[in-house]
Order: sequence, then C-alpha cells, then structure tokens
Amino acid sequence: MSELSVKHLLGIKYLKEADIQLIFETADHFKEVINRSIKKVPSLRDITIANIFFENSTRTKLSFELAEKRLSADVLNFSASQSSVTKGETLIDTVNNILSMKVDMVVMRHPNPGAGIFLSKHVKASIVNAGDGAHEHPTQALLDSYSIREKLGDVAGKNVVIVGDILHSRVALSNIFALKLQGANVKVCGPKTLLPKYIDSLGVGVETNLRKALEWCDVANMLRIQNERLDISYFPTTREYTQQFGVNKKLLDSLDKEIVIMHPGPINRGVEITSDVADSKQSIILNQVENGVAIRMAVIYLLASKIK
Ligand code: CP
Repeated sequence: MSELSVKHLLGIKYLKEADIQLIFETADHFKEVINRSIKKVPSLRDITIANIFFENSTRTKLSFELAEKRLSADVLNFSASQSSVTKGETLIDTVNNILSMKVDMVVMRHPNPGAGIFLSKHVKASIVNAGDGAHEHPTQALLDSYSIREKLGDVAGKNVVIVGDILHSRVALSNIFALKLQGANVKVCGPKTLLPKYIDSLGVGVETNLRKALEWCDVANMLRIQNERLDISYFPTTREYTQQFGVNKKLLDSLDKEIVIMHPGPINRGVEITSDVADSKQSIILNQVENGVAIRMAVIYLLASKIK
C-alpha cells in the first residue's frame, strides 16, 4: 500500500490496518529526519495548512505546527478565543474565510463530537481531526501505538489496559479502535460510572480492580479525569478516585513484571499517576510526545499527496 485509503483523517474508525502500517513506516523515515542536524525536508513547500483550535492544547498544537514546519509547509495558526468566532461567526463561515486564502489542509480541534466530519462535508480542504470533544483523537492513538511498537517491537498480541475516565475520553475511543485493528488485547479499567454503556460493543474487556488490570497488562495507558466535560459528580472525591484508580510506585513495584506506563497528557500528578511513576524508567510519556511529531509529519505528508 503506497497511499492512504482516506482523504481526511477524521477518526481511527475510518482507517484500515494497512493505513496504520503505512503511517508507521512513513513516521519511521521522518523520525530519522528529525534526529538529523538539519531537521527539515522540502516535501510540502507548495502546501498551506491552517491549525484551527477551538479548545486549549499544548502538545497537539505545538506538535502539528512543528511537523508542518519540518515538512516546509506554510502554516497559519488560529485560536478561536482571539478570533471573530467570539463575535458570532459560524464554523463554516470561519473555515471558508480561511480557505479563501488558498489553504489546502485544516487541522482542527473542536469541543463538539463530529465537528471534523461535518466540516469535511462542507469544505474542499483536507481535514485532520486534532480532537473532537469526547469522540476521537486519531493522531494521539497513532502516536500511542507507534510508541508501543517502538518499545515492545509490535502491537499485535500485547495486553493493553486503558485506565480512568473512559466515558469522556477521545483518547480512549481512538486507542481502542487503533489497538483492536492491530490485534492487541484491550481492557478498560475505571469506576463503573466512567465506563460508557456501549463499552461491550467495542470488543474490549472491563476490569474495575486496578491491581488485577495491571497484573494482566503489558502496557497501562493512564488517562486524566476530563473535568472540563463532567456535568455531574461521577465519584465521591478525587482522593477516593486516586486510592482506587491511581498508579503509584509501591503498586507498580509490587507487580511481578515491569509494565510500560503511558499517558497522553496533560498529567494531573498525584491524581491518576504519582510523580515517581510518571518520571520512572517504566514511563514512556515523553517518548510519546517525541513520536507525535514524526507521526503527524507522516499523516500530513500522506494526506497532502492526495490533494496534489
Ligand atoms: N494529548 C493531548 O491532546 O494534549 P493537549 O490537549 O495538550 O494537546
């Protein structure tokens, strides 16, 4: 396979396993490029990309911008809070105004699930979903699987547990789709109130005992409680949540094997993960961030080849 089966990256749900392998092979090449003394290639000199963020971001926004600049694309950065969106402009009007400036690709983060899908039906540019509400965060799942592949050699056959607020997490859903597509065994672990009712239909196991989940897994992906999306209380107190679902060094060291610890960030240190675990040699959290640039270069490069 030499090209993606999709024109947009709206979610992992729309990808085939071969798409993921093509993205990984392309990212392998770009990872080598960004570790050279000259970290830039001229591949996308004729492409203009707009990063439009309607929600806050540190890692995803900087990582996309760096990936685009490493590929020599022209880059526009748009933050909704400093734009005419605050004066009542609609999403389609905003994007059409940006596109009239001859933009080829839009990378968008939006609080509404399906915002990227909606946009892809109304505008000509290629759309990359950088996180849409509690729906999907496809490049995060790609960089997570890529980091597992780098650390453990392969994703197929590995036991991966995703711990925390599964109900409100776009990282959880995209990771479930990506890991299942590659043949990993997936479990979720968290308070019952933070597991979606449809979880069984996703073909994953459910474990509400964290120790049992950690004893089973090769990799634990620790998620933050998505406080910005909680409309009611889903557990009694943060302290109680941490006691039941937080990973600390004592728990980690009491397991009879060394598991890999992941976190998509931002971390709430001392809630879902203690600092000594986040900063331990079992943690690949910063490797995930590093790999994010190569993965996003690969995604943008492969999508751009379809609009030329
Ligand atoms: N992982 C992630 O999406 O982080 P940001 O919200 O900082 O982009």
